[in-house]
Amino acid sequence: MARTPRQAPGRPAGLAPAEGFREDVIAGLSLPRKALPPKYFYDARGSALFEAICRLPEYYPTRAELALTRAHLAGIARFARRGCTLIEYGSGESLKSRLLIRALRPAAYVPVDISGDALRGACARLAREFPWLRLAPVAGDFSRPLEIPGIEGPGRRVVYFPGSTIGNLTPDEALAFLRMTRGQVGVNGAMLVGVDLKKDANVLHAAYNDARGVTAAFNLNLLARINRELGGNFDLKRFRHYAFYNATLGRIEMHLVSLARQTVAVGRHRFAFEPGESIHTENSCKYSVAEFQALAARAGFRGARAWTDRRGRFALHGLVSG
Ligand code: SAH
Ligand code: AVI
Repeated sequence: MARTPRQAPGRPAGLAPAEGFREDVIAGLSLPRKALPPKYFYDARGSALFEAICRLPEYYPTRAELALTRAHLAGIARFARRGCTLIEYGSGESLKSRLLIRALRPAAYVPVDISGDALRGACARLAREFPWLRLAPVAGDFSRPLEIPGIEGPGRRVVYFPGSTIGNLTPDEALAFLRMTRGQVGVNGAMLVGVDLKKDANVLHAAYNDARGVTAAFNLNLLARINRELGGNFDLKRFRHYAFYNATLGRIEMHLVSLARQTVAVGRHRFAFEPGESIHTENSCKYSVAEFQALAARAGFRGARAWTDRRGRFALHGLVSG
């Protein structure tokens, strides 16, 4: 959906970001193993809670990625090339993007996010900070085909996907996403993907079980959102946040566990829960550099560069389509 540069983001016609929320919730809670898609975490409250998570002492990924981006900015800019069109998926508050925007002076910046609220706030700040920047926000869901505005200059297209949001996709979904992106950037196009590295399970455990309970609030907000938007009657006190590292699958799993036998209504639908039964709400897959490069290769990308932070916690992959 093409939009006029500098226009505040709205909902492109025919693609409301929360479209399908009801259907996905009913389908997910009807599964033998209940599950909900993590993309629905990000209403206004969920986006604000995620921003608070990024500032927690235990949640190292944001700081690690910011540090490695600052440390290697010159090399990253040489790789991406000044004057490119920078398309960012899951841009949120566009925090790390500021560093790239300053270094790359892109011909245009296209932030794509399912959260209209996060996108609006980010674009207002970017417009103040970079008055010369051509902004073309897209409020939409990157798990479906999305039209990116054709506003580029002569430079190439570079897709930026930071934050290890790719880890919230299953490896099969990540592969499909990378293939879709490869089509979008075209021959000689490039991608910069932030990926959380495999590490000590205790460090991972702490990052998703913070002492202040912000991650728990982020997880439980999904039930609150169902209550608010879909006429649900989840009692949040009867569900508990549970996150653990599944070493076999190399991923953090987040769940909401029912503390009692109970029945919950969502509109006219009823869902029964046994004590201890969980709703699986998120995977956060962790990849070694070699594992991620192998995945990217299957999508037709060459892993040209991989920058990591000094403590080896997080990687930024520079991929070239070829
Ligand atoms: N890139 C930022 C934010 C990461 S949080 C960072 O690195 O800190 C994940 C972001 O992706 C959120 O802003 C969320 O709203 C967005 N998001 C999640 N699933 C999405 C989807 N399917 N389509 C578009 N945006 C999505
Ligand atoms: C956005 N995403 C990469 C975060 C992650 O670490 O998987 C979401 C998150 N979930 C719990 N804490 C943060």
